[in-house]
Amino acid sequence: MSTVSRDDRCPIAILISGRGSNMRALIDACAAPDFPARIVMVLSNRPDAPGLDVARAAGLRAEAIDHRPFGKDRAAHERAVDATLRAAGVKLVCLAGYMRLLTPFLTEAWAGRMLNIHPSLLPAFPGLHTHERALEAGVKLHGCTVHLVTEVMDDGPILGQAAVPVHAGDTPDHLAARVLEQEHRLYPAALRRLLRPEPSSPVDDGGSLLVV
Ligand code: GRF
Repeated sequence: MSTVSRDDRCPIAILISGRGSNMRALIDACAAPDFPARIVMVLSNRPDAPGLDVARAAGLRAEAIDHRPFGKDRAAHERAVDATLRAAGVKLVCLAGYMRLLTPFLTEAWAGRMLNIHPSLLPAFPGLHTHERALEAGVKLHGCTVHLVTEVMDDGPILGQAAVPVHAGDTPDHLAARVLEQEHRLYPAALRRLLRPEPSSPVDDGGSLLVV
């Protein structure tokens, strides 16, 4: 296994709002000596996000910049986030369940350097309640997408996708669990591929398909 020297690894931040299971997957990936990123900090817009404790337990700097004192001034909150990221030397941002609509200020400031994971096969089902909507639509394949963030929500160039079959009798919770398992594989794989481009190689894992 090749290693990446400490200075070569890209300094990243992970932005969360909740439990942070995708963050956890990225933390685990970054622990591997050959992974091309290191986590500088975890930031949440919610001081009570359970993921902050997970990050701290992993020895990471984890802070909240509460959006509530900023009221309707989204850009002012984003300026505080942006200043914190820059002061920490962050070069790339991974949104992982960060439940804020972003303004052009932040998306332009981090254009090409901000990733998001979304629980559907974009461009199908942007927005919320993706698993319910996939079941209602009767799709046979569902999944998740890692993409670069642009000012349009759940849009932007696709870096990778993982697909899972929809089973007869699936509930939204069953489907969400099947997709989440793939999210945890896809996000590190897509980040690795972005930072260390190699020829694309689909991975067929007995019932799921991941392509980065
Ligand atoms: C994930 O399903 C992710 O795709 C979506 O929000 C959820 C966050 O879950 N953007 P977690 O906080 O990573 O567990």
